[in-house]
Amino acid sequence: MDYSKFYTPQEVASLLIKMLSIPQPKRIIDICCGSCNLLSAAGRRWKDATLTGVDTASQIADGVQFVRMDGREFAIQTSQRYPLVLANPPFDYVGIKREYPELFDGVFETYHTSRLENEMLLANLRLLDKTGVLLIIMPSSFVEAESNREIRKIVGRNYYVKNIIKLPEDTFGASHINCYVLEIRRRLGQRICTKSCKAFRDANKYFLSEKVTIHQRDIFEGNWHTDFWSKPNNIELNIRRGNISSQSFSDSGLPVLHTAKQSRNWKPSIRHIKNAVKMPVYADYGDIIVSRIGKSAGQWCRYFGKRVPISDCLFRIKDPDGSIADALAGKKYDHEIKGIAVKYITVNDFKSWYNSVIVNNDTIA
Ligand SMILES: C[S@@+](CC[C@H](N)C(=O)[O-])C[C@H]1O[C@@H](n2cnc3c(N)ncnc32)[C@H](O)[C@@H]1O
Repeated sequence: MDYSKFYTPQEVASLLIKMLSIPQPKRIIDICCGSCNLLSAAGRRWKDATLTGVDTASQIADGVQFVRMDGREFAIQTSQRYPLVLANPPFDYVGIKREYPELFDGVFETYHTSRLENEMLLANLRLLDKTGVLLIIMPSSFVEAESNREIRKIVGRNYYVKNIIKLPEDTFGASHINCYVLEIRRRLGQRICTKSCKAFRDANKYFLSEKVTIHQRDIFEGNWHTDFWSKPNNIELNIRRGNISSQSFSDSGLPVLHTAKQSRNWKPSIRHIKNAVKMPVYADYGDIIVSRIGKSAGQWCRYFGKRVPISDCLFRIKDPDGSIADALAGKKYDHEIKGIAVKYITVNDFKSWYNSVIVNNDTIA
């Protein structure tokens, strides 16, 4: 079967463009534009944007500046960079290996491929400006096959893979082409977490299943598909209990985070100690803070303040990429709370609750 000419249906193009959360792009390009459906959907959402389409076959669409040439060559020759790049490249073997060696410059230097869609991905990534976003449809083998692990690793480590969306098998008609949409961003500073979900169709409308978080270490290792993801019970939370006793609190002095009354939007309170303690456990910006004792035992929040030591009534969890907070978002600790007079939970109680939450999240996909 010739997989190189399956045009993106309009409803799918509209869904994909709608889900992009980006500022108004000035220039949008598709270097294998075919039907121009992706470009046209983008043009409907961002009416002032300049649309450029490149294709080896001649194509015409309203409002699209068309260039007839090989998309890879275009990407190498142009000095223009784009805030939004759209792509549903041909899925095929390359005619000549490394016909465009420049595509493999930089981080892709040692990478080899015989697949045209992979070369097209490299060509598309070249076109991104500093904050650029690439929305690309790739065959399922790109996300699932061991043979593509190397390119997944390079992309995962050097770009921010924001969304991975599995399209329904019949997206391109009766042909049953399994594919994924990838949203890849240039700016690493934004890297918070990667979401994965499935798109499904009900009548002629497309919907997205609830998204699940993929850990960044899985993205770095090329584990982009559910089969590869780290098993929840392998997840080692970096969690520690504080070591400053409330008996050392004073009216003024150095700040310490301490537990606080149970509340809907629980946050730790600030207390003080006269003298610094040796080897305190600190809360840093972005850490998760959990109350371990009292009626608020199990309540948690993300901490966005300055570095400060914590009392022995709190746990602190390191969460550099925000993926733990993301997995727990909106979830209330609902496992056992120990103690009769004074309620409390242990580090292991919180770990086991966290793992149960992750398992439940995984089954949604
Ligand atoms: C799978 S279709 C997708 C078209 C369009 N992006 C869409 O979403 O509807 C791939 C398109 O790539 C074009 N194409 C194939 N090889 C190409 C190349 N080397 N450079 C540019 N376009 C190419 C084909 O002519 C075809 O229109």
